[in-house]
Amino acid sequence: MKILVLGSGAREHAIILALKAEGAGHELFCSPGNAGIAADATLVAVDQLDGRAVTAYANEHSIDLVVIGPEAPLVAGVADALRERGIPVFGPGKAAAQLEGSKAFAKRVMDAAGVPTGRAVRAASIADVEGAFDELGAPYVVKADGLAAGKGVVVTSDRAEALAHAEHYLPAGPVLIEEFLSGPEVSLFFLSDGDTVRALSPAQDFKRAFDGDEGPNTGGMGAYSPLPWLAEQFGSEREFVDLVTEQVAMPVIRQLDAEGTPFIGLLYAGLILTPAGVKVIEFNARFGDPETQIVLPRLRTPLSQLLLAAASGNLEGQPQPEFSDDVAITVVLASEGYPEAPQTGRQIAGLADAASVEGVRIVHAATAGPDAPGGDLVATGGRVLNVVAVGSDFATARTRAYDAMGRIDLDGAHYRRDIAAAVAE
Ligand code: AMP
Ligand code: GLY
Repeated sequence: MKILVLGSGAREHAIILALKAEGAGHELFCSPGNAGIAADATLVAVDQLDGRAVTAYANEHSIDLVVIGPEAPLVAGVADALRERGIPVFGPGKAAAQLEGSKAFAKRVMDAAGVPTGRAVRAASIADVEGAFDELGAPYVVKADGLAAGKGVVVTSDRAEALAHAEHYLPAGPVLIEEFLSGPEVSLFFLSDGDTVRALSPAQDFKRAFDGDEGPNTGGMGAYSPLPWLAEQFGSEREFVDLVTEQVAMPVIRQLDAEGTPFIGLLYAGLILTPAGVKVIEFNARFGDPETQIVLPRLRTPLSQLLLAAASGNLEGQPQPEFSDDVAITVVLASEGYPEAPQTGRQIAGLADAASVEGVRIVHAATAGPDAPGGDLVATGGRVLNVVAVGSDFATARTRAYDAMGRIDLDGAHYRRDIAAAVAE
């Protein structure tokens, strides 16, 4: 197949690596990509936010499937433009992507579908915010309504900090004040064709910047899969997945279909396992980053087959995706200053040595160059790359990941040392 992937992060690199690993001889294209993706796919220059440009490119080059990685092109309606021209595309249209693009929209759909989630109050002024704080109590959860790359949320018991966060986002529109939910978090991905879903294996993301869940929320600093403790709590991973499919994924898919805005693409359920049951923290309309980097290496079913079936409305005929018994962990290397003020343009070294560690792959997020042989590979953003390690158990995978990470040089960079530590004991 000829497959075009839109995006430039580690998630897109992981998708391309999984497509390549099928060994099916796919021709892979990516726009805009990054320095790591350049080694695994042909980079092309097409404006990923311009539906007409992407459609024209796909037509001219006889692309069989377009996979949209990030949220911005989804919210911009790129999938609608492709679908109108009959080009198979994995990614929801503009209307259904509001599930991620607007937290208020997501709450409305969850209410209509009867999906369990925390109570939320929409606040348009500081007085509203204060009222909601009084009503819901501490700790305070404040969320910006639009896309904020995981950084629009603050969870704190410090009322002044919570107020300051609300004040920062209020000029752009109402904010959501949410009931604080406590419990372990799970990221569960569903492939959807608009009518039905197929679940992937659960993963856990580490959202805070520093060890011990300290520091600000980020886009995600590491992840692991599967989650052995789910079996203890729910009997088996399958039972957990079936429960979430029934209580969360299918009701939302049916609701969006009934509203005339079917969701075709990846439904990412951000869940929290509270003492009162499984609740949704948020939905995303695309693969998670960094969870994709550890879920896809464990997937045994060909990814292209699943994505194409979802894009063409044929998931019903697909078996449940199968996963290997290996475990996978990923650790994110972030630039100095991430998430507040990442320092970019610095040289990265040691990647070949790191990649030589058994079971390890380096997945690129924000890298560029070298433009000439012998030139520098440089960091161009906050989350620079992921070390992904696979092994028969978490202790092995962790040893491999951190051995590889120790071989990489990037001035001032930081990474968490406690990814999957609790499950490796
Ligand atoms: P979100 O962008 O909605 O996924 O929020 C980012 C992170 O903030 C989540 O992964 C949680 O760790 C935390 N969070 C969000 N909403 C809540 C909530 N209602 N209660 C507790 N923590 C939350
Ligand atoms: N890992 C969090 C996200 O993809 O939004």
